[in-house]
Amino acid sequence: GPETAAPVVAKGLAGVVVDTTAISKVVPETNSLTYRGYAVQDLAAHCRFEQVAYLLWHGELPTDAQLSQFLQQERAARRVDRSLLSLVAKLPDNCHPMDVVRTAISYLGAEDPAEDDDSPKANRAKALRMMAVLPTIVAADHRRRHGLDPVAPHAQLGYAENFLTMCFGAPPAPELVRAFEVSLILYAEHSFNASTFAARVVTSTRSDIYSAVTAAIGALKGPLHGGANEAVMRDMLEIGDPALAAAWLRNKLARKEKVMGFGHRVYKNGDSRVPTMRKALGDIAAATGGGVWLRMYDVLARTMYEATGIEPNLDFPTGPAYYLLGFDIEVFTPIFVMARITGWTAHIIEQAESNALIRPLSEYVGVPQRAL
Ligand code: SDX
Repeated sequence: GPETAAPVVAKGLAGVVVDTTAISKVVPETNSLTYRGYAVQDLAAHCRFEQVAYLLWHGELPTDAQLSQFLQQERAARRVDRSLLSLVAKLPDNCHPMDVVRTAISYLGAEDPAEDDDSPKANRAKALRMMAVLPTIVAADHRRRHGLDPVAPHAQLGYAENFLTMCFGAPPAPELVRAFEVSLILYAEHSFNASTFAARVVTSTRSDIYSAVTAAIGALKGPLHGGANEAVMRDMLEIGDPALAAAWLRNKLARKEKVMGFGHRVYKNGDSRVPTMRKALGDIAAATGGGVWLRMYDVLARTMYEATGIEPNLDFPTGPAYYLLGFDIEVFTPIFVMARITGWTAHIIEQAESNALIRPLSEYVGVPQRAL
């Protein structure tokens, strides 16, 4: 038969444009990231996280009236029923908190009688419920691992402050709440990253939003994606002293090991979100006496850049920031989920609205056809 040219294999889908989106734009050349047209640094400087969630879902920032209604709805949806709390309490207390979050979202789908209604309106209501419930679950799980009872959500507190209060029993200083909220805004959305793409693949089969989010959580857990923020802090604790950081990093590179929190598939000259988060980490370090981690950050970043030209990604500053706020390391990626739930669900809604089944091809390289 006629020879056919071998297809071009786009390993890892690197450089492949698979669809259009109106949600966010990443321009690596100018180191810019916009959500619905707004620069992420501006949103981090001027907005609360709830406004950014609304923006991602509706395409526009809320008016004052829209915002107060949105805040009311989110705050009214924070409580979880006893059966979900007891399900969480039954999971092994040494399982990863990402397993807890994944299970909780799956449970919310199971108990939703309208699970399969994928209209934008229904999906936005479900997205709001997931956003509202996630902090309650993450905080209850964090406390249970310390032998503490859950703290009920507060209907008068903002998303960030309520979460911190549920975790630690009292609201932290306002500058810490604000620095934490900045991290949530920066984590909220990032175009076709692996977890968002996983959510879009599931949605493309016309499966439900909870199944799509469950898949996204699974994808985010891995250390090449969201799990990197945990690995960063483990490495920093292993190094212990900024004076040892440069040698540690050079050794790691000599062994051809990946340094967690560095590099990015799309950004090759630095992650657009890092300067804003480096500043938030500085604020947290100043307020908590955590200067040692800031020095460690700077030595590692400088040494890595000198050795490889590779820059840190967002998971590099958030690791020490969350550590200094008092979180156990395993909770870092669930916090990423609390923020990215907004971006994931915006993409799920967009995918459902202009759907095409996602089903690529592969080039077969196995045993040629043979007789049985
Ligand atoms: C997130 O996609 C998103 O948008 C993700 C995210 C989001 O908001 O959703 O930004 C969040 O997931 C951040 C990334 C967190 N992951 C890590 O920090 C893990 C460590 N980093 C890497 O393993 C790596 O940089 C990736 C996975 C992030 C990107 O990998 P690519 O695009 O597949 O690039 P690559 O691994 O092929 O690296 C290219 C070169 C290689 O060298 P050569 O073989 O060409 O000589 O750069 C080197 C790599 O070895 N390199 C690194 C490195 N990252 C790249 N070398 C050492 N340490 C690193 N971290």
